[in-house]
Amino acid sequence: MRQAAQLVDVARSKLMASLAGLVLVGFVIVHMLGNLQVFEGSDAINGYASVLRDMPIFLWTARAGLLTAVVVHVGLTVRLALRNRQGRPVPYTLRRYRAASVASRTMALTGSLLLMFIVFHLLHLTVGIIDPAAPHGMDAQGRMDVYGKIIHAFRNPLYVGIYVGGQLVLGLHLSHAVSSVFQTWGIAHAALDRLFKLAGPGVALFVVLGNLAIIFAVFLGWVRT
Ligand code: HEM
Repeated sequence: MRQAAQLVDVARSKLMASLAGLVLVGFVIVHMLGNLQVFEGSDAINGYASVLRDMPIFLWTARAGLLTAVVVHVGLTVRLALRNRQGRPVPYTLRRYRAASVASRTMALTGSLLLMFIVFHLLHLTVGIIDPAAPHGMDAQGRMDVYGKIIHAFRNPLYVGIYVGGQLVLGLHLSHAVSSVFQTWGIAHAALDRLFKLAGPGVALFVVLGNLAIIFAVFLGWVRT
């Protein structure tokens, strides 16, 4: 009876963690697509960013939603990992990783590094305390100069290196996470199995290549002013 209740609790936690994770996947896709407007120049990206900023109620609702998703996702996945470990107090002496990919074996590590990257990124580009020399003012139209922040950041090889590292970690984490959602939800179909397996690496590649395009285009001076 107690075991059944525990199984239900684990299944519910996995479901909630995956739903919160999907909200975050949705955010990174939309964030990357929005940031691609840097290729259109300052007017496009600053105008895009000001739409949300001009509606504080939506901005703060979106921020509260994101924060909730992060807390639920991290909290539940850590709890599940700890419970998993408690269930197996003596670690395997010989680990066999024949079928498991690098991405699946390193979820805890990439998840922790990703969290550190996000905190760094917020302090860097949103709060603006990492690089005091970065522009944190308004553009000529009185909008937040998001374009200026991005250009200033990725002209510097140090930030290019840190953000490229962040993309590697993000890519590995997304690659396994998105594919395993189907398993968590019990969606199994022989004909679609290959597609489910490819979904993770596909989404990861899409997001990472988009972000890397921004980073390197700015670094190489390929974006419009
Ligand atoms: C090349 C990649 C990226 C670029 C150029 C970029 C750019 C930016 C900029 C300019 C801001 C500040 C916007 C503002 O002040 O209005 C921002 C905020 C943010 N970014 Fe990124 N970002 C990148 C990657 C990521 C990744 C990979 C994540 C998450 C995994 C992420 C999560 C966030 C979050 C949560 C915010 C705060 C949004 C808010 O509440 O205002 N970003 N990003």
